[in-house]
Amino acid sequence: MTITRADADQQDAALALIVTAQSSPTTACAYLGTEADGVRAELDDLDTPWQETLRVAVEPSGRVVGAVLHDADPEETMRSWIHGPWTLDEQTWSAYAVPLVRAAIDQLPPGVEQHELSAAPAHTGMARLAADLGWHATGVSIAYQATPATAHRWPGDAPDARVATSGDLPAMTALHDAAFPGTYATASQLLADEGRATLVLEHDGELAGYASGEIQADGAGYLDFLAIAPGHRGQGLAPGLLAAISRELLARSSQGTVNLVVDEINATAVALYEGFGYVRDAELLGYRSWPQPQPQPQSLGGSFA
Ligand SMILES: CC(C)(COP(=O)(O)OP(=O)(O)OC[C@H]1O[C@@H](n2cnc3c(N)ncnc32)[C@H](O)[C@@H]1OP(=O)(O)O)[C@@H](O)C(=O)NCCC(=O)NCCS
Repeated sequence: MTITRADADQQDAALALIVTAQSSPTTACAYLGTEADGVRAELDDLDTPWQETLRVAVEPSGRVVGAVLHDADPEETMRSWIHGPWTLDEQTWSAYAVPLVRAAIDQLPPGVEQHELSAAPAHTGMARLAADLGWHATGVSIAYQATPATAHRWPGDAPDARVATSGDLPAMTALHDAAFPGTYATASQLLADEGRATLVLEHDGELAGYASGEIQADGAGYLDFLAIAPGHRGQGLAPGLLAAISRELLARSSQGTVNLVVDEINATAVALYEGFGYVRDAELLGYRSWPQPQPQPQSLGGSFA
């Protein structure tokens, strides 16, 4: 068995393998899309060029039978997201899945010591791999999608919703850290990212909520953060904020879609999204190299396309 950096021919072979594997929930990783063009666009959009982080499993015949790559944040969260691994079939999965993940981890920048994988529950190989690695499964999350056809059900935008500014950072940080502890992006990163749509909701002179999303490389909108401050919850503020951020992302999305991921146990959020006509698109399971503190009824905090 050889696990190596990929030359140009091996990159092409790996890309074909990845695209095929992404087309089925039993072999796809959750961080990339399922359509060939979308997968390529999302790979090209990764912070570190995928050709650099790509590692391939190569048989003595020269055939590429497995691939893996990663995305990492060596600045703030010190985490990595392992994309894949993908292999040709179950036999090559048994042989190469663990070594591929180890090869991905071996090349991470110093200090990046927490790693995450994600796939549909139907990807039973991923569950076996996580167990072999000693990683922990998070709860099941549900991926939802809205399209323009759903938007007619939405209430009006909250009148107090506005674009977030740097002056919102302290209050937004407090709310973000409490609502999504340990997630993959800090409030400061959300505000600094000009490609994002980040809205805040003011109520009684306080920051009562915020929502943040982006357009992914394949053109799909992705809403990854929405929270109402604890003292303002249960007062009906969430729908106006959700309507405002959903409309903004829908308007920006070339695919005309808004996706989001929420923990199955987060009943309030599930009721809110289903009330908006968001449609269940897939189920996801995350696997983390570090222990779960407590079940957190929030979004998975992982990218879904
Ligand atoms: C999820 C969260 C944003 C909801 O905020 P909230 O203030 O508790 O909710 P609100 O009272 O404004 O609204 C929720 C209600 O909107 C309802 N709703 C759904 N669609 C609606 C619509 N189109 N129009 C009006 N109301 C709607 C929901 O069913 C729910 O009703 P209920 O009061 O009968 O339960 C809040 O609990 C929170 O910040 N949680 C922590 C972070 C989090 O989990 N975020 C979501 C992760 S993706």
